[in-house]
Formats: sequence, structure tokens, C-alpha cells
Amino acid sequence: MALDRAHRQREEALRIALGRTPEQWSPVRHRAREVFDGLAVAGRRVLDVGAGIGTYSLYLTRVLDAAEAVALEPSAGTGGHADIMPRMRARLDAADDGRVRPVQQTFQAYAPAAPFDAVVLLNSINHLHETRAPLDRHPAALDAYRHAFARLHDWLAPGGALLINELHRVCLERYTSQLGLPRLFTREIDYDLHQTPETWARLAREAGFGDIRIRGVTPRRLAFLPAAVGRHRWMSLATNAMFVMQATRR
Ligand SMILES: C[S@@+](CC[C@H](N)C(=O)[O-])C[C@H]1O[C@@H](n2cnc3c(N)ncnc32)[C@H](O)[C@@H]1O
Repeated sequence: MALDRAHRQREEALRIALGRTPEQWSPVRHRAREVFDGLAVAGRRVLDVGAGIGTYSLYLTRVLDAAEAVALEPSAGTGGHADIMPRMRARLDAADDGRVRPVQQTFQAYAPAAPFDAVVLLNSINHLHETRAPLDRHPAALDAYRHAFARLHDWLAPGGALLINELHRVCLERYTSQLGLPRLFTREIDYDLHQTPETWARLAREAGFGDIRIRGVTPRRLAFLPAAVGRHRWMSLATNAMFVMQATRR
């Protein structure tokens, strides 16, 4: 991603507004650059589903210049972290210029008044209907996700972008760590709670999305690699297990 000077200055302004040190900010900035690369949201309306404490909603408005970002966050979501919404409000007090709109609600209860130009789900899709089984072996969860993708399709304007950033349920370190080898790229998490990117791509296709693309996310410690290598699917499986699936509402 070739970043111009103005983009870097906006990132730096956001870091300062959030009171983050360069070391604290570096992983957030790396992830945002990787995940949002190619997502054109300047002057557009974006929905951030499962926005957490709102950092990436702020990145969408203050760095990528989205006209509005709705930060949808139930707070006491499936993770049960009741302090998320207060922390988001504190972040918005510090850094929002009026373009992030927090909405304390679940995805299931939410009904937007107008269509969005982009919907992003960053590490949140697998929390909407948590299941440890592959979806094909859990018909109720598969149905729930079919319904969820139909709603995502309805909420987007024609030509709008759906962007999912998640972890693959399969990755090398999931298995090598069981042999006692050190983890270099991944954390100890419940990989069974995740699905494969192909599962999400299939659901998107069934819901009517087109132009579906899946790519890896370059691990931060390998950021020196060219994007074609760092974001290669095999690189993702061998390292951080992160992927981005992007699709267009036809
Ligand atoms: C792992 S966090 C990701 C936060 C943020 N998007 C990020 O990438 O840093 C998952 C978020 O999804 C939210 N979430 C859980 N269930 C949800 C639901 N049914 N509707 C909307 N968000 C939900 C959680 O509250 C949590 O903030």
C-alpha cells in the first residue's frame, strides 16, 4: 500500500488524539493499513459491526475520511465485556470529530434507517452466532448466518463493499504449538470458534454478493515483505491465520 504523506499525517494525528505511544499504536496502524487497503470510503457511510472500543471506526473517519461510521457494539456482547461501551465513549470524547456514531445494539436487533456504502466486520463475525463446529455440521448456525448475510446484503447500497477480517480456523501454529513448538505469530485462542474464509465467501455468494476476494494479512514482523508475498494465502496459513474477505453488493 503506497501511503501518501497526508495519510501518514492523519494516522499520526489520530495516534496523538488517542494518547497512544508509537509502540502502542504500531500494531493498530499495521492492521488498519493491511485490512483497509483498497477499501474506498472517503465521503461514504460505513457500518462497523462489533466495533469494540471504536478504534477502527475512528480510523475509518479520521484517516480514511469516511463521512460517517456507525459503531455498532452491544457492549455486553457474547464476550460479556460490559466496559466496552464506556471505553468507546471515552475514545470518542478524545478523538472523534463528530463522524463516529456509537449505537449500543446487537447486529440482530439493529435496523439501519438508510443503506451503507460499506460494512466492515473486524474479528466480529464469528461472535454473531458462536459455534465451535464447522457451519456445515451445524444447520441452525448455518441458517442464522444465511440470514445474517442476507441482512448485510440488504443494508448495503448497490456497489457497496462488505469487508470481513477474521482468523482462519486452520493454521500451522495451531498444530505445531501442540507439539511444544513456540508460537511466533498467533495467540492461544479457541480456533474452533472460527470458520474458513471459504465458508464466509460461499455465504456471501449465496446472498448475492459478487467480486469476492480473499487475501491474507501480512504479519507485522514480516511487514518488509512485498504485499503479494505477505498477503499470500499460504503465508497466512503458515503464520498469523488472518485473512480479509471483501465482496461487492451487486
Ligand atoms: C473480538 S471483538 C472485535 C472488536 C473490534 N472490531 C476489533 O477488531 O478490535 C468482537 C466484538 O464483537 C462484539 N459482538 C459480539 N456479539 C455481537 C453481536 N451480536 N452484534 C454485534 N457485535 C457483537 C463484541 O462485543 C466485541 O466488541
